[in-house]
Amino acid sequence: MDADIDYPKTGQRIPNGMLQDNYPRNMWWVAALSADITSQPISRWILETPVVLYRLENGKTAAMYDRCPHRWAPLSEGRVEGERIICPYHGMQFDPGGTCVKAPTQKMTPKTAQIPAFETREAGAFVWIWMGDKDAIDCDPPEVGYQTDPGWSFMSGYYDVAANWVLVRENVLDLTHIPFLHANTFKQNDWVTAPETYMDGDTVCYEQEFDLAPLSPLFCAGMGLPEDKPVKRKQVGRMPSLAVSFSDWNVHDPAPDEGRRSDFLMRGCHIVTPSQRGRTHYYWGAAFDVPDLDAGVIEKTRKSVIEAFDEDKHLLEIMQAQISKDPRGLDYLEVTLGADGAGIKVRQVLNKKLEAEGRSLS
Ligand code: FES
Ligand SMILES: [Fe+2]
Repeated sequence: MDADIDYPKTGQRIPNGMLQDNYPRNMWWVAALSADITSQPISRWILETPVVLYRLENGKTAAMYDRCPHRWAPLSEGRVEGERIICPYHGMQFDPGGTCVKAPTQKMTPKTAQIPAFETREAGAFVWIWMGDKDAIDCDPPEVGYQTDPGWSFMSGYYDVAANWVLVRENVLDLTHIPFLHANTFKQNDWVTAPETYMDGDTVCYEQEFDLAPLSPLFCAGMGLPEDKPVKRKQVGRMPSLAVSFSDWNVHDPAPDEGRRSDFLMRGCHIVTPSQRGRTHYYWGAAFDVPDLDAGVIEKTRKSVIEAFDEDKHLLEIMQAQISKDPRGLDYLEVTLGADGAGIKVRQVLNKKLEAEGRSLS
């Protein structure tokens, strides 16, 4: 039916495409905001798996497969008592390791009643989860601690994006879309040339310096700068893990008003977690190195950032839907531009991780 379409013969392809599982399992992913985890269990789809998350009496977090081994009732509908989670259906009780410690309808505790449990770590504002091989845990979750540092004013948000996580991950490292897709929100319209990109170990990095130009109005209030004031800025990005990347706006005001600071830092963080097929949890954070920023300024900035990110969500979801519906979607190789350096490095990191897990790459 498409015999006349001349597909590109060379180009790039997202490892494993966008229609099948293409996420590494042996790494830390964000499971939830720390504040979301209480003694009331919640259910989250993570890596195409239903996961129940809850907090034990001792304050620690726990996570396991959200299905009772008896008749598959979701444990997230149950309750937590001390160290145990209790199934809502027939009351079986499980310890945080997923072992059944009581089946109230009989004397014998069934030895085969074991639920896969996952490692969790709480760090800063997030709870992280490792859903692969526990013996392969070789690092701590990436450091995002500034979000709880009183020297910073912090805001955050969450999206359920109906698009493969790689699309979301690459989007936040792809900067030249800002003057186009976000022409009316970010209004940072000088961002049209490619940044310098490089690897620092396994960390994807980019850097780019801009000459005097007005700062995106989204961030002026947070730094107390007039919207039309030309400032210099250095954009620095780092992706220490496929799960999280940072984008820093280092702003220098060459002519500060009397008694005013000349240098400010705005730090953004972008956290993605594969959810169900073709869906992604996307957590974002933004912080100014200004303590005790006025609550009104924080709220105004947060709303403006959401307005801009809505533009990304809208486009990424259409892209995913288009590809999901088109049986030839993945045969169409992508053309790569000079500005895609960071995105290509993301794919290289992803390829390497999938390969290390013995996964096929296409
Ligand atoms: S389904 Fe959980 S105890 Fe029966
Ligand atoms: Fe964007």
